[in-house]
Amino acid sequence: MSNKMWGGRFTSGPGAIMEEINASIDLDRHLYRQDIAASKAHADMLAKQGIITADDAKKIAHGLDTILSEIEAGKFTFKRALEDIHMNVEGRLSELIGEAAGRLHTARSRNDQVATDFRLWMRDAIDGLDAELAGFQRALAEKALAHAGTVMPGLTHLQTAQPVTFGHHLLAYVEMAGRDRGRFSGARKRLNESPLGAAALAGTSFALDRDMTAKALGFDRPAANSLDAVSDRDFVMEVLAASAITSVHLSRLAEEIIIWTSPLTGLVKLSDKFTTGSSIMPQKRNPDAAELVRAKTGRVIGALNALLIVMKGLPLAYAKDMQEDKQGTMDALASLSLSIAAMAGMIADLEPDASRMKKAAGEGYATATDLADWLVRTLKIPFRAAHHTTGRIVAKAAEAGVALHRLPLSAMREIEPKITDDVFTVLSVDRSVKSRTSFGGTAPKNVRLQAKKWLRKLEKEKS
Ligand code: ARG
Repeated sequence: MSNKMWGGRFTSGPGAIMEEINASIDLDRHLYRQDIAASKAHADMLAKQGIITADDAKKIAHGLDTILSEIEAGKFTFKRALEDIHMNVEGRLSELIGEAAGRLHTARSRNDQVATDFRLWMRDAIDGLDAELAGFQRALAEKALAHAGTVMPGLTHLQTAQPVTFGHHLLAYVEMAGRDRGRFSGARKRLNESPLGAAALAGTSFALDRDMTAKALGFDRPAANSLDAVSDRDFVMEVLAASAITSVHLSRLAEEIIIWTSPLTGLVKLSDKFTTGSSIMPQKRNPDAAELVRAKTGRVIGALNALLIVMKGLPLAYAKDMQEDKQGTMDALASLSLSIAAMAGMIADLEPDASRMKKAAGEGYATATDLADWLVRTLKIPFRAAHHTTGRIVAKAAEAGVALHRLPLSAMREIEPKITDDVFTVLSVDRSVKSRTSFGGTAPKNVRLQAKKWLRKLEKEKS
């Protein structure tokens, strides 16, 4: 039997393999809510414009409500033969209300339907991710406030660089997540135009009110070009790009948690809630959640990559290639959402080993820059020369096998005779971080201020 929604010129139905490759219902069934909402808006508008009767519109709306509750109650049978969510809904509608169902598809196409449905779905997905990212930021800012004065080794090239505070380190990720949220909200603004009424590609000869359907669905306005409305998926690519960047941020933090919790550094502990054991090595405490967050980044980047490749050679307007936009995207956004939740949980859970961190912060001559700065400030030596002198003092300390603050003044004076006792006031890690009061610097009082600022901002957003 040919398909009753498009099979007029066909004598038989598609072959089994054709049906298999063509059907998208396994994925786009997740768009049922959006599909039904868009159909209701369309039917209302058709009636208001006198394109269908008020009576038919009523039947259609009633039938669509029934379908919505059937799907939500798990009582709806999705049929692969009907390909996708649009035809599954319409097929059931015609079972429920008969002929009036056939009027719903006036002046629209599955092309503008799917573009509309997926935008609506994406809007909800963005709102969900945004709320999760806000929760992640809150967990970070709270932990940062608690550890505004906890000193840790700041690294560049994974080598001890200068002491920083743990709170400052965590707040770096709050900033990143803030920009991630900005990218999602920018994408949301741009995608919020209604394709409905663009029909297959050229618009329609019926006198639609596209502003009405746009408004009913919470779009800012109807999309201005029918070809563009049905044929671009930049909104999906953009959200995936924002997701990929967010995932990369999460992955970097995950990697740090893995390093910090390794017995090789022992800087941070995760509780049993976020640790797993080994089936053979009884001593093991593995940071699996962090490892999985790091790994899931691959899927998210992969989904972006896949869709870019799908889209790159497509002439306007719609092509069935675009149906491939959903699988990777749905998987990527679900992975991202789970990753954000796992990271927020780990951040709230983890506890730094403050004394170990402090000890590590003092190793590797981390206060050498403080010594150079002291030479500049107190002895008025140009920074380049001070850098060189400090390098020689560090070499001397390394030769003696002692930390900078343990090197006797006399040894320092062999290199720079004008150095005084006062130098020792800047060589401790606590003094070092306390002195970094420049805006954006790591001093505990800066960190406290920034953490509180973020917590206030996040609190305000909720109301
Ligand atoms: N299932 C399709 C998709 O997701 C809907 C649009 C189908 N359009 C068409 N002309 N066959 O892209």
